[in-house]
Amino acid sequence: MSITKEAELIAMKAASEAVACTLKEMRDYARPGITTRQLDHYGAKILRDFGAKSAPYLTYGFPGWTCISVNHEFCHGIPSDNKVLQEGDLINIDVSAELDGFWSDNGSSFVIGEDIHQHQKLIDASKQILHKAIYSIKGGVRISDLGYLIETEARKRGYKVIKNLTGHGIGRSLHEAPGEIANYSDRSNLTRFRKNSVVAIETFISTTSTYAKTLNDGWTMVGDKGGFMAQHEHTIVVTEAAPIILTEMNGVWD
Ligand code: CO
Ligand code: CO
Repeated sequence: MSITKEAELIAMKAASEAVACTLKEMRDYARPGITTRQLDHYGAKILRDFGAKSAPYLTYGFPGWTCISVNHEFCHGIPSDNKVLQEGDLINIDVSAELDGFWSDNGSSFVIGEDIHQHQKLIDASKQILHKAIYSIKGGVRISDLGYLIETEARKRGYKVIKNLTGHGIGRSLHEAPGEIANYSDRSNLTRFRKNSVVAIETFISTTSTYAKTLNDGWTMVGDKGGFMAQHEHTIVVTEAAPIILTEMNGVWD
């Protein structure tokens, strides 16, 4: 969406506070020994207390309130009673929701407990690249140039990007104009970021794979060549200078 009046910015800030607080609280709650279903229920209550509804559930009928993906799962992992978090797991939580007709989205990868499998370097790369990417955006910047920046930064650090997972426009629905915001330079995409538009910027930084494929459960995505992936996501408003980072309070950069 494009912000045309103050009331819309206030509403987007409220929806973003709900998803950012929920993600932050879920990160703090995640620990070895709990199931991803318990973690999802914990997040669902926080969203409900804000009056917010799960975006993937509303939009796609996703079987959970949040997406929780563990280790080789890249994204859209289904919260489960059978998945018990272990010390050193790489986990990704993605929280998106609707509040009073406005939609916001954010996500974060992190390690459960001690980093005994050395995932932190990948996670830090994803966080740093998201930061650099977001602060390169202003009205007039080409979406394909943002993709070039993300892929170049990933390569510099010895990583790849996933080509079929993207950021997106957001605001009045989960996915909207200006469409897909890829992590590589898609030369066919001539679209530019526009001042006042609301977009979800997300990294998909991977060790081995360049495409994500869906498992037989119909939701969970894993790498075409396996390995691990880290994702960090903020919903922002594009301006003529530095963007307004609506989900900044999720604390992924703290
Ligand atoms: Co998301
Ligand atoms: Co998103």
